[in-house]
Amino acid sequence: MCGIVGCILKEKKDVAPILFECIKNLEYRGYDSIGLATYDNAIHVKKGKGDIRKVDREQNFSNMKGFYGIAHTRWASTGKPTHENAHPHLDDSNTVAVVHNGTLENYLEIREDLIEEGHEFISTTDTEVIPHLIKKFMDEGLDLEGAVRKCTKKLEGSYAIVAMSKDEPNKLVATRKDSPLIVAFGKDGYFVASDTPAVLDYAREVIRPKEGEIAILTKDGIEIHDKNGKKVRKTPQHIDWSPEMAKKEGFDHFMIKEITEQSLAVKHTLGQKANIKRIIKEIGDVKRICFVACGTSYHASITGKYLIESLAGIACDVVIASESKYTARTWDEDTLVIFISQSGETFDSLMALKEANKTSNTLAIVNVAGSAMTEEAKYFIQTQAGPEIGVAATKTYIAQLTAIYLFAGLMAGNDKIIEELSRVPKYIDEVMKEKDKIKEISKRYDFAENAFYLGRGFSYPIALEGALKLKEITYIHAEGYAAGELKHGPLALIDEKVPVIVIIPPGDDYKKTMVNLEEVKARGAIILTVCAKGDKKAADNSIDVIEINSEVTDIIAPLVYAVPLQLISYYVTCDKGYDPDKPRNLAKVITV
Ligand code: M6R
Repeated sequence: MCGIVGCILKEKKDVAPILFECIKNLEYRGYDSIGLATYDNAIHVKKGKGDIRKVDREQNFSNMKGFYGIAHTRWASTGKPTHENAHPHLDDSNTVAVVHNGTLENYLEIREDLIEEGHEFISTTDTEVIPHLIKKFMDEGLDLEGAVRKCTKKLEGSYAIVAMSKDEPNKLVATRKDSPLIVAFGKDGYFVASDTPAVLDYAREVIRPKEGEIAILTKDGIEIHDKNGKKVRKTPQHIDWSPEMAKKEGFDHFMIKEITEQSLAVKHTLGQKANIKRIIKEIGDVKRICFVACGTSYHASITGKYLIESLAGIACDVVIASESKYTARTWDEDTLVIFISQSGETFDSLMALKEANKTSNTLAIVNVAGSAMTEEAKYFIQTQAGPEIGVAATKTYIAQLTAIYLFAGLMAGNDKIIEELSRVPKYIDEVMKEKDKIKEISKRYDFAENAFYLGRGFSYPIALEGALKLKEITYIHAEGYAAGELKHGPLALIDEKVPVIVIIPPGDDYKKTMVNLEEVKARGAIILTVCAKGDKKAADNSIDVIEINSEVTDIIAPLVYAVPLQLISYYVTCDKGYDPDKPRNLAKVITV
């Protein structure tokens, strides 16, 4: 996903090395090209396709002069990943430079009109219309701020933009709609970025401009103006994530570091209990709940549905955000719509949230404070996982589950589940102590081309999440199935070359899942079972076994049984020589 940064220093030193460091911190969002623009009597642009360090070797960014500038990592959406399409983009007189995150829906019409007026375009991106429009409006007499404002009135779609102009030097102007953007106050200068980790090394006092507001950065500070150009007063929020928290701390990959941090993520999120209690009280009576999310967050939501229906007896739906438009028609004032998201910026979830706000009470369970969904939702719970850099969601998933269990348990007045939750960090730590054994087991699975994950009841979403983790980082085709669905189709695919991972904790569904395990065994499948310690029957019917503390009941299982599945995916990925932190074609934050 695109990442943008802008910086203006208080003193006249070269800003390029700082911009380069900041943009490197956004690598985790995924990118295909990068570029920088600085101003020193003229606008200088250097950019290229490929890895940040490779492009730096080719371009030597640190040679760029000027005390302010903008930078960008691009994740292609409109126009292929090429040198020409990399940002920053300029108008055809090299007067205005722009970096942009988002997608413009009406750029083709704007581009045609501009071409008719004599403008020439170099790239095939949607973004390039923006510097052309800004230049045109400045030529008509507007200053940079006015031209940016007028330009955004023409744009349909989503955007976070930072612009600079040689006709109005020593200034950066930024604005946003449906794409993330923060501004930050540092000791040596002022910053604008698409995400806080970009600037953590330099600035910690952060403001998130609202949609339509314009941020103006000069060497003397940052001003935020509303849509009428009136100055808005805002108090910056202090971000206490240390830069070290965003680094690997000696682990080979962020993913394994983040898996290791899961028991802490649970402990920290349990600290939200009082806050969640207050929110439940404020929300009051709820007749129906609907969860909306994507990917891993969707899997956490299915667990939420099962919990709320079984513990609180409240009717509960769960819907994928990009498929929510029909369900959205049934939301009303008695519905609580709960949005689950690590980033708080996922485009489809954010759009559904805006829709839900029109009819219903909304609650966002999000990991990133200050993100768009935290501002949109009527209520907001922050999961306390800390920054997650690996593209594969691990500790944020477990933290989401913790918040959902707290919410459901408190809503239902079920003290037993709250008490069980407090033991989860211990259970997770026990699994982590077995990681060398799990690593050994993983070595026997890297040959696979297909794999199946089976679970029933609360173990069904664990199966879905296990399969997603495997496919997204190992590139092995994997399917998660409700074990009862096996004979309705997938059983036809099971043979002696197919690993089947069976999630079978003790509880109501145990016997039925055991029947399914025997069914796949009869077809010769290579069975890896995740079961309770001492479950002899499961062990006798499997090739490999991962044992979990037998106190972990089926209801609490998603918080613990998911962990060995994450480890298996991680180790298989390492065995295959892939980078688990940056799976191909995927990005951490999906803002388009
Ligand atoms: O930030 P979100 O939780 O809204 O992101 C939703 C999905 O893109 C995300 O959960 C994705 O499926 C995971 N990174 C996969 O591990």
